[in-house]
Amino acid sequence: MREFPLTLSQFIIRSQAASQGATGEFSTLLTQIGLVGKLIAHDLRRAGLIPILGTTGATNVQGEAVKKLDEIANDDFVKVFRHSGCVCAVASEEMERPIMLPENWPQGKYLLLFDPLDGSSNTDTNMPLGAIFSVFKHGQTDRLPEEQDLLRPGTQQLAAGYLLYGSSTMLVFTVGQGVYGFTLDPDTGEYLLSHERIMMPDRGKVYAANEGNVHRWPSGVKKYIDSLKVPDKAKGRPYSARYSGCLVADVHRLLLSGGVYLYPGEVDKPEGKLRLLYEANPLAFVVEQAGGKASTGTTRILEIEPKTLHQRVPLIIGSRLDVEEAEAFVQGKA
Ligand code: AHG
Ligand code: MN
Ligand code: MN
Repeated sequence: MREFPLTLSQFIIRSQAASQGATGEFSTLLTQIGLVGKLIAHDLRRAGLIPILGTTGATNVQGEAVKKLDEIANDDFVKVFRHSGCVCAVASEEMERPIMLPENWPQGKYLLLFDPLDGSSNTDTNMPLGAIFSVFKHGQTDRLPEEQDLLRPGTQQLAAGYLLYGSSTMLVFTVGQGVYGFTLDPDTGEYLLSHERIMMPDRGKVYAANEGNVHRWPSGVKKYIDSLKVPDKAKGRPYSARYSGCLVADVHRLLLSGGVYLYPGEVDKPEGKLRLLYEANPLAFVVEQAGGKASTGTTRILEIEPKTLHQRVPLIIGSRLDVEEAEAFVQGKA
């Protein structure tokens, strides 16, 4: 008989049967992420034909111009999860405050944090986009969550992953037992298991960073990037530069073929640009599960105790040996 890859639901049912204490609710959650991906991918396939490009005229809590697609993607996440019954709070890069969902509680035990559209500067030019999500369990059984309950270190994540809208649409995630990638089959509307137990190489040949910012970078980061350009056969240098403007797409490349992504702190902005709860934590969980590392340069991303919902963090993420080398430069040890 013809081999057919597992669908997302088949995979979830199998893993649920294999993992003690797994509830149907958690499976619903992953299926609903898949649904959000289908809704957004459906719109993106028509971008340029339907009025979804450009900005809304508003500025978000991050101080950034809101793209129409940021808003559409955020609304899709909120609508789907409001009806899902499985989460009791959602927090998003695009919303100043989280939304509590008393209608889903106490059945819905999970807290969902997301970046609904990643790489939004790519929207109008048909370049890759993504979405990133992070899942925690609401520990309290006697009350609804409060904003404070969402401020948890990444080590406590139960699941995390991303949707990538590239030449195909993918859902890549971990529940702490390896990283799995599913590709959306546009004909059947099913996500099919296409990348099983992704492990990234210990070292890559690619670096991803917005080098236009070089004059604002600390000297350790400058020296590290310079070192990657010096020919050295043994170390596979020079590295190639590949930067898409979409963190999800860049991290996806690293996950499959290795290398390093950097969005460092800057001299006048030591906290950097990327958001700890919506971007760095979930991608750090995925990358660590694939054998890689994620660091601020001095601290493991997953161990940071968040103080605020929209906290930013410098990020160095990718292959283990590449990240360790970057850390040595940042810390002045190389
Ligand atoms: P978002 O679209 O969610 O605001 O994230 C954009 C992020 C990330 O995807 C990307 O790597 C980086 O910001 C690009 O920033 P620069 O344009 O400053 O390079
Ligand atoms: Mn983003
Ligand atoms: Mn975003």
